[in-house]
This record gives sequence, C-alpha cells and structure tokens, in this order.
Amino acid sequence: MLIRNATLPDGRTGVDLLAVDGRIAAVGPQLPAPAGVEVVDAAGWLLSPPFVDAHFHLDSALTYGQPRVNRSGTLLEGIALWGELKPLLTEEALVERALAYCDWAVGRGLLAIRSHVDVCDPRLLAVRALLHVRERVRPHLDLQLVAFPQDGALRSPAALAQLTQALDLGVDVVGGIPHFERTAGEGAESVRLLCELAADRGLRVDMHCDESDDPLSRHVETLAFHAQRLGLQQRVTASHVTAMHSMDNYYVSKLIALIAEAGVHVVANPLINITLQGRHDTYPKRRGMTRVPELMAAGVTVGFGHDCVLDPWYPLGSADMLEVAAMGLHVAQMTGTDAMRACFDAVTVHNARILGLEGYGLEPGCRADFVLLQARSPVEALRLRAARLLVVRGGRVVARTPAAAAQLQLPGRPAQVDFTLPPR
Ligand code: FE2
Repeated sequence: MLIRNATLPDGRTGVDLLAVDGRIAAVGPQLPAPAGVEVVDAAGWLLSPPFVDAHFHLDSALTYGQPRVNRSGTLLEGIALWGELKPLLTEEALVERALAYCDWAVGRGLLAIRSHVDVCDPRLLAVRALLHVRERVRPHLDLQLVAFPQDGALRSPAALAQLTQALDLGVDVVGGIPHFERTAGEGAESVRLLCELAADRGLRVDMHCDESDDPLSRHVETLAFHAQRLGLQQRVTASHVTAMHSMDNYYVSKLIALIAEAGVHVVANPLINITLQGRHDTYPKRRGMTRVPELMAAGVTVGFGHDCVLDPWYPLGSADMLEVAAMGLHVAQMTGTDAMRACFDAVTVHNARILGLEGYGLEPGCRADFVLLQARSPVEALRLRAARLLVVRGGRVVARTPAAAAQLQLPGRPAQVDFTLPPR
C-alpha cells in the first residue's frame, strides 16, 4: 500500500508512506509506486500512528444496566454493583461483549489496549474469557492483560493465589490496588509483594494507585521505591494517582522527582477521574485528576486511559481516545500550544511506550499500523474528535469512516462545511 500526500503529526506535509509486508518500507516526498501496489490519496489529511489505550477494563465494558444501573454514580456503588454482577457473568457473554468493544476500538483507530482483568473470582472466568479474546483479536488489535485484584491482593483471601494463577495462564502484567487494602501498611506490603512477583517473572507492573481524594495516600511513593530497588525502571505504571491532586504541594515537589528518578510511568483517566473524584466535596469541588503537566515537565511518561465504557462506573464512552484526550486537556487546563500537542501524544506515543509496544510509529521499519484522520493537525483532531477515514493494520485496511460534513441549505453560502480550518 502506498499512501500519497499525508500530513504527519510532526507537521511535515506532502508525505508519502509505503507499506510492504506489514511494515513501513519508506516515508518521504513523492515515492515511486511499485507495480501492483494499492495507492491511497490522503488528500493532505493527518496520518497518525494508531491510538493506544493504556488503561481499560474490558471485563466490565458494555455491561451497563446489568443487573441494575449505578443510581448514585459513585465509585463505591460501582464497586458494589460489580460485586453483584460478577457471579452472574458467563464466559460466552463476556467474550461477545469484549469482541464487540474491540470492533468499536478498531473503528476508532484504537489498535492497542492494556486491559485490567479482575482476578478476584475463584473461577477466573474473566481471565479465561479475555485470554481467549486476546488471541481472537491478535490479527487486528494488541490486547495486553493486567492481573487486577479488584478486592485487594491481601484484603481478599484468595486474591494473591488467583493472581499468580492468572499469570500462569498467560496474563501479561501484574496489577494491584494498594489504597483498597485494609490499612496503609497492608497497602505498602501489597506493593512490595506484587513488585517482587513481577521482578521474579520478568513482567511489567501496572497498579491502580492512590485512586482516592486522600491527600495522605502514599502508595505511589512506595511503588517508585520498589521499582527502583528491583531494577524495574520503565516497566512500572502508576494508574489514576488521583490523590496527587489533593496532596500537599511541598510533598509533591519531592514525589514527582522520585517518580521521574524511578522511571515510573503515570496514567490518568480523565473521563473517569473528573466524574468519580471529589464526590465527598461540596463546593469548591476538586477535579481529582493527577498532576499531568507537572509530571510531564519532570520527564515522566504520562498517558491517558479510557478506563471504563458503559459499565458499573461509567454510563458513557465509545472507544474514542480523542474524546479521552480532549477531556484530559480541559481538566488539566492544557490549552497552551505544546500542551495540547502533548495531550495527543498521551493517547498515542506515550501510551505505546507504557505498553512497551514493538515497532510503533511512522518510521521505516515500524509496523504498518496507522490511522488517517479528517484533520490537518493533532490539535485539530482533538478539537473535532476527527473522523477515522481509514484505519490500517499490517498494511491492510481494517476500517473506514465517511468524512464528516454538514450539508448547508443557505442561499449564497457553501453547500457543505466540514469544520476544519481552511488552509491559509
Ligand atoms: Fe481502572
């Protein structure tokens, strides 16, 4: 496949890209078209590497309303509701929902997802279902699974054994939820145990960490300590870390340096953080998202995750990482030029680094995975939640979406508008 006349996220225009045997063979102006190659005119639209979601829950996705809806809309009712739903899950229904969500993802140009899977179920039903789904979708989507002890690795009696069993079955990453353990001490102990387990097995770590509004929650500090102690730099992710929003500024000035030094990545989940945090506040009401621009400024890789779609915690969502990034941009007040651009990176290159994806990017030698967006720049893509005109995996088109436009019926005005800024 030869893509003609694309704009790249770094601002280069009039670029051609040649894909051969599933890899990018060449990138540059006016490439010669080898015989028999499919030529696609990008018409100057933005060609980006695919979207990546660094934090998702595929086992609960699309269960909205089962067995009932979350009336209060709170995190705690969500956890209780998930507890009611778990015994009712069947492997077949779970597989069908997960496959349906992966279809949405491909349609949105989202070709890699790190999903947590709850291991606090003696049947490990969701683990088995998602391992099956991971293989089913492998040709078109990279699914990375995290063994997530939702009810606490130490608080839930069999959780640690079940988590280990999930890893034996082939789950990729070690999860945790230290702030949900009984005490701060047990939380810290769970971080130590889980990091050692990951180090022993050569696995990555991704913990739900300090997902609260408690200014004294300290588990990310412990996570950074063990990441460094065990040589797990660049392989550990602290997810949510919403407590950092509420922490004392002096303490945070020490903490951010510690996170950067330990090479720990951070994932914020803007849609979920802005809706679930600050629920005990009256007014003023805290936003609750972690300190994204400050972490980025310190050199920490910060990604954005979708976290939930139509599940006990969140009644909305549609696998659109541009919606996620746009919310992150607003909540973090990242409206500066470079800051907006960084929000696009947070759902593409940053998340790819967090997942450790091989061959991600638009350089020769990278996998021929990309998405053609109906926008002229990454910031315009964010503004418009731009249509994914073409989604390509391994040099093959896997999804198309018609260009978005309104047909006007106004005398003397254009027949059509597409909301992109006309080129100057
Ligand atoms: Fe989560």
